[in-house]
Amino acid sequence: MHVVITGASRGIGAALAREYLSHGEKVTLVARSKLQLEELAQTGGARAFPVEADLCEAEQATSWLPAAIERLGPIDVLVNNAGMQLLGRVAELDTEEVGKMVALNVMAPIRLTRAVLPDMIARRSGCIVDIASMAALTPAPYMSHYSATKAALATASECLRIELEGTGVHVLTVYPGPVTTEMSQGAFDVLHKTPAVANMPTGTPASLARVLFRAIAERQPRVIYPKIYAAATYMPTFARWITKKIAPRPLEVRKL
Ligand SMILES: NC(=O)c1ccc[n+]([C@@H]2O[C@H](COP(=O)([O-])OP(=O)(O)OC[C@H]3O[C@@H](n4cnc5c(N)ncnc54)[C@H](OP(=O)(O)O)[C@@H]3O)[C@@H](O)[C@H]2O)c1
Repeated sequence: MHVVITGASRGIGAALAREYLSHGEKVTLVARSKLQLEELAQTGGARAFPVEADLCEAEQATSWLPAAIERLGPIDVLVNNAGMQLLGRVAELDTEEVGKMVALNVMAPIRLTRAVLPDMIARRSGCIVDIASMAALTPAPYMSHYSATKAALATASECLRIELEGTGVHVLTVYPGPVTTEMSQGAFDVLHKTPAVANMPTGTPASLARVLFRAIAERQPRVIYPKIYAAATYMPTFARWITKKIAPRPLEVRKL
């Protein structure tokens, strides 16, 4: 099986790449940090193909696909994982940075999905995995534009799964809550850690990777992780209320 994982240089993407490599699968690892990618690729030998690309750039988002296919064969699983998070008061965010976030979190998955789909449909097999966020389901302050990008990705993903029914191609939509990575650490550095926020159920990249490995194999429609956050889909009004309740108040935000 050939699995393509974007954002594979660290965090959730790197953990998922390790999981697949440990099961003997072939993995294309995509990100900007060449050294980290090469280090991880070494653990997979000829089964790993590191690709240095800035997915914010339209041309670089897909230009490496033919080389990956030539090296490791047709793509069986595409994991749209690379992402960035801008936190801050909306009025103070840099518009150019917001544009980059939209390009990475929304446009890159759309470009990649559209690029791999025709071959998957022709082969009547394959899986697209979109790493959205609980932020898509529960609005929180200082995350307005980030949450909007994740809601866009999640909605595109959920729609595509229905559209592809009967084609043999599956779509898995993933809604992680807090997971201990550089991204979540960055958020905690900026936002005040109220006791409620500090005690939020938090997962690890390695355990999420194991959950995703299984969900992809079983063709599950969506993953909410850690599992307790699934309550947000059954009780959305309560989830919104509690998110608002525990969110840091404006005066508590440190570095904005
Ligand atoms: N951690 C959480 O709590 C959490 C919660 C919900 C959703 N998520 C989502 O899960 C995904 C992975 O997050 P993470 O926590 O593992 O984040 P992370 O540790 O910050 O890793 C982000 C990955 O994306 C890559 N990336 C960033 N900008 C890129 C660009 N322009 N082109 C190509 N690759 C780029 C990074 O590699 P380079 O810097 O080397 O390019 C890195 O491999 C993201 O989509 C995130 O929104 C995370």
